[in-house]
Amino acid sequence: MTEITKYWPAEQTEAGIREAAAVLAAGGIIAFPTETVYGLGGDARSTAAVEKIFAAKGRPSDNPLIVHLAAGEDVHSLADRITGLEQALIDAFWPGPLTLVLPVKKGAVSVLVTAGLDTVAVRVPEHEAARELIRRSGCPIAAPSANRSGRPSPTLARHVLEDLNGKIDGVLDGGATGVGLESTVVRVMGNEVHILRPGGITKERLQFAVGKIATVIAPSEHLSVAQSEANEEPGNVPRSPGVKYAHYAPQGEMILVSGHKNKLTAIVQAKADEAASQGRRVAVLSCSENVAIYRAEAVFDCGSHDEPVQAAHSLYACLRECDERGLDFIVAEGYPEYGIGSAVMNRLRKAAGGREIIVN
Ligand code: TXA
Ligand code: MG
Repeated sequence: MTEITKYWPAEQTEAGIREAAAVLAAGGIIAFPTETVYGLGGDARSTAAVEKIFAAKGRPSDNPLIVHLAAGEDVHSLADRITGLEQALIDAFWPGPLTLVLPVKKGAVSVLVTAGLDTVAVRVPEHEAARELIRRSGCPIAAPSANRSGRPSPTLARHVLEDLNGKIDGVLDGGATGVGLESTVVRVMGNEVHILRPGGITKERLQFAVGKIATVIAPSEHLSVAQSEANEEPGNVPRSPGVKYAHYAPQGEMILVSGHKNKLTAIVQAKADEAASQGRRVAVLSCSENVAIYRAEAVFDCGSHDEPVQAAHSLYACLRECDERGLDFIVAEGYPEYGIGSAVMNRLRKAAGGREIIVN
């Protein structure tokens, strides 16, 4: 492992990509921007490179990685077969924030990448610099989000360095990521598209693109660890191993208050006051419409309640700022569960460890 992490600023993208690609080709590990969050990449065929990724992140080895490709047609080098429905999803959404879980071609990637499963998760990022980096490296790039395991995913190069400085070979700065939350992970089962992790591509867009198919959100996404483990019997919806881990957790305690934006403010303020009276340092994550209502040590404007795109973009940075400022009790407003709002709520629930008050 290197002790010095090389940093390529956003103004030097071209030189940065060239140098970073050479490091990847030589078995090193590099953090790079994508349209979702920063990824920590290494050659997916190299067990040594993938071991470095797991070690730097402190990631449990039974949680498989997504393999990133420069072009959709390269998928045939990794996947055994592609069904018509899978190809339709590829045509509609690649490059873009959709990850497909496909039957893996034997020997195509290190067994550490798939955590021994017979499937591999694949995506082609939309971010130009990401695709250029992968193309130049000449490798399929295994890349989880570039955070310490359990921390919010990085949406700025600075976040990567906060978590991984000295543990990785380099970081390519591409400014703030676009979506701000991870890709949608899907698996096609017959004529159904199962959403294993909601993300950048919404359920509505999936349905619109591939017609009258059943889109099922894997129930385990909404369950506690114990419940989701109980759900693991054969015959149940396939699940993403990653969903069983407590992800995206801020260091403080967090509670989610969801429901109509006009009805939830009294509960949010009551929770904030109660915690403050116990000496806690309180942050409220509020929608723009309610931000002026709250009294707390910190009130974050996460964007309009009705347009959760901004909340998706800013959520992880807000959670990180709470940690930096030592705010140890966070009350977060919920967002409506349609469009990208579904992914926002999924991440808020995880960050809150399932603590949610629903106001009707
Ligand atoms: O947007 C993203 O997807 C980002 C950027 C860097 O591309 N990457 C990312 O990777 O979020 P990571 O490792 O943080 O999350 C990968 C998710 C996990 O939930 C993992 O369990 C799931 O994908 N996954 C990977 N391989 C799988 C497989 N073969 N079957 C089911 N789920 C899989
Ligand atoms: Mg992650």
